[in-house]
Amino acid sequence: MSALLSIDDLVVEYAGRTTVRAVDGIGLTIEPGEVLALVGESGCGKSSTARAVVGMEKPASGTVDYRGETVPPLGLRRRPQRFTAIQMVFQDPNSSLNPRKRVDAQIADGIAAARLRGAAGSTPQEWLEAVGLDAAMASRFPHQFSGGQRQRIAIARALAARPDLIVADEPISALDASSQAAVAGLMRQLCLDAGAGMLFISHDLSVVRVIADRTAVMYRGRIVESGRSETIWADPVHPYTRALLSAIPHPDGLGRMPAAPAAEAPAEWSASIREALDRV
Ligand SMILES: Nc1ncnc2c1ncn2[C@@H]1O[C@H](COP(=O)(O)OP(=O)(O)OP(=O)(O)O)[C@@H](O)[C@H]1O
Ligand SMILES: [Mg+2]
Repeated sequence: MSALLSIDDLVVEYAGRTTVRAVDGIGLTIEPGEVLALVGESGCGKSSTARAVVGMEKPASGTVDYRGETVPPLGLRRRPQRFTAIQMVFQDPNSSLNPRKRVDAQIADGIAAARLRGAAGSTPQEWLEAVGLDAAMASRFPHQFSGGQRQRIAIARALAARPDLIVADEPISALDASSQAAVAGLMRQLCLDAGAGMLFISHDLSVVRVIADRTAVMYRGRIVESGRSETIWADPVHPYTRALLSAIPHPDGLGRMPAAPAAEAPAEWSASIREALDRV
């Protein structure tokens, strides 16, 4: 059986005066129900990888397969419906939301995509509640929400399409610090509930440590280390991974990942999210 997502020897390049090789021959797999984190410094190629996975960037070479089939370009006319089961959440919710369209109508677009694949739908109100927002606000426009609420709406819209693969590129970086862990935990929980897989890109290793089953560390276009998250954090092999970890402030000065913040979880976390976070 083929993996949910299988990337093999992927190369992504940008043409210009000199060609930039942003992704230099990487391999990754994601299985259903699995969260894989991709971490690394700015410019190492994380977003280029994410865009290649959803079909926004054409690989210079190598393959990106979703359930054993090459992912077709995103803008392709007659792109088969089944690929709407791949959904992306961006760092800036404004790039996923239409400012001139009511929130319920935008979530309804996701529901319609799911219906076309024969996936059962819910209502926009139910999706808003699933991401912790008040269903009574469904008829408002994006600008009537805070940045954190807008990102929750973008997540609701993506989830309403009933994805089985979610590609999230720094989905919590633009949120205020107080809601980052809650939104990341929510994404993991909703992913688990749906049996979906997720590629979660973040530079916040303390969040990655809590929500990712496996972690891949990227450095200058290559994956330098990957494996079970707890193994990587407990015993990093590559010097670059060690450097990344040592950049995280920690009271004992060992440069190790801080423990999961279960004890001080925000009040808005539901019991199921706390439970999920306790398990990892
Ligand atoms: N559209 C583009 N045209 C030319 N070069 C690009 C383009 N997009 C990215 N690059 C270059 O490719 C390399 C990888 O960029 P990418 O955005 O994938 O990195 P990243 O890991 O997502 O960084 P960040 O953490 O800052 O988001 C960088 O050198 C970047 O300057
Ligand atoms: Mg990026």
